[in-house]
Amino acid sequence: MFSGFSKLFKPRVEALGLEVGVANLKLVELAGSPPALRALASRPTPQGLVVEGVVTDPAALAREIRELLAEARTRKRYVVTAVPNPGIILRTIQVPKMPPKEMEEAVRWEAERYIPFPIDEVVLDFAPLEPLAEVQEGEQVEVMVGAARQEAVASLIEALREAGLTPVVLDVKPFAGLYPLEEELTKDPERVAVALEIGADSTSLVLTRGDQPLAARVITLSGKDFTEAISKAFGLDFLAAEEVKRTYGLATIPTEDEELLLDFDAERERYSPARIYDAIRPVLVELTQEVRRSLEFFRVQLGDVQPEVGYLYGGGSRLRGLSTLLTDTLGVNFTIPNPWEGIQVDARRFDLDKLQELGPEFMVPVGLALRGVGPLD
Ligand SMILES: Nc1ncnc2c1ncn2[C@@H]1O[C@H](COP(=O)(O)OP(=O)(O)O)[C@@H](O)[C@H]1O
Ligand SMILES: [Mg+2]
Repeated sequence: MFSGFSKLFKPRVEALGLEVGVANLKLVELAGSPPALRALASRPTPQGLVVEGVVTDPAALAREIRELLAEARTRKRYVVTAVPNPGIILRTIQVPKMPPKEMEEAVRWEAERYIPFPIDEVVLDFAPLEPLAEVQEGEQVEVMVGAARQEAVASLIEALREAGLTPVVLDVKPFAGLYPLEEELTKDPERVAVALEIGADSTSLVLTRGDQPLAARVITLSGKDFTEAISKAFGLDFLAAEEVKRTYGLATIPTEDEELLLDFDAERERYSPARIYDAIRPVLVELTQEVRRSLEFFRVQLGDVQPEVGYLYGGGSRLRGLSTLLTDTLGVNFTIPNPWEGIQVDARRFDLDKLQELGPEFMVPVGLALRGVGPLD
């Protein structure tokens, strides 16, 4: 799979998985092989701390991370994390196979055309999408290029260091979310799947064949758009709208039964399924259209690939009925994966129901943590 931007540290150590999200910071500690869950913790990201992928106040983020570490009561100080999505660009490009150093040059040269900021202000990494050994020298190779804004990388690393952490790998989130699925994805190496992660401020789509990423895209339509729609429709501030979304939100046309459940409670009447649905319907339409457009774009780019299955995760996936809506409108069967499968969990220390509930939004931090206990490549 994709290796991430920098392998900053070589020796084998066990590292924590830390996700820095626009809405939430999440920490997962795994240990051993097979991996066992040691700790998890999360806390809201203060508003305005992560803007367009850049940490605006590294010292403030460092304080939040210290709180997380204290809550998790971990002694580990190595960490695998990822650049927040809006700070990265992912593209597949073709370059001729050459010796590694020259290929790096060629990728830089080629990537420059696709990157909207000056090439000397980005950190680049790339991975071939086919085994290089099977390609003749001079033949075209498909490579996945990850580009991160220098500022996004530097501000994140500064915050980690200030929190007393040593980063060992800086990954990209859209791929990190796939690691918990690795076993499932490798089961059928020819099967094409799409992974859709809906966060607070961005949504990522990755098309895979087996466990190999084929293409990826980040779009800005995300959880906040649903909240904003509710905020407008009901005249609520963002936080109140967020609460209403979580309690009453739904993504499918309410059935009569659901309407009948209202039982004349004033609040439930106000936020009736029909009203909520009306408020967020335009966002749902836009989301399905964006996903459809992305799949179409991939199809054109890659030549007739069509996903057989979809995985839906990220906090935004918790909107009731969303996987059903996507399945019905896109003709791809979407399910919500469970990141804890394959991880040993002590039921005396962790509330299994709670973990299950948090599963979809913990795909990325669990993925990062899995990398932290896996072999470093
Ligand atoms: N029960 C829920 N119903 C709908 N949306 C939810 C629910 N729980 C969380 N979300 C949304 O998920 C998003 C946060 O997801 P998360 O993956 O933690 O974001 P990030 O990683 O970008 O910080 C927010 O937009 C939040 O409103
Ligand atoms: Mg996230």
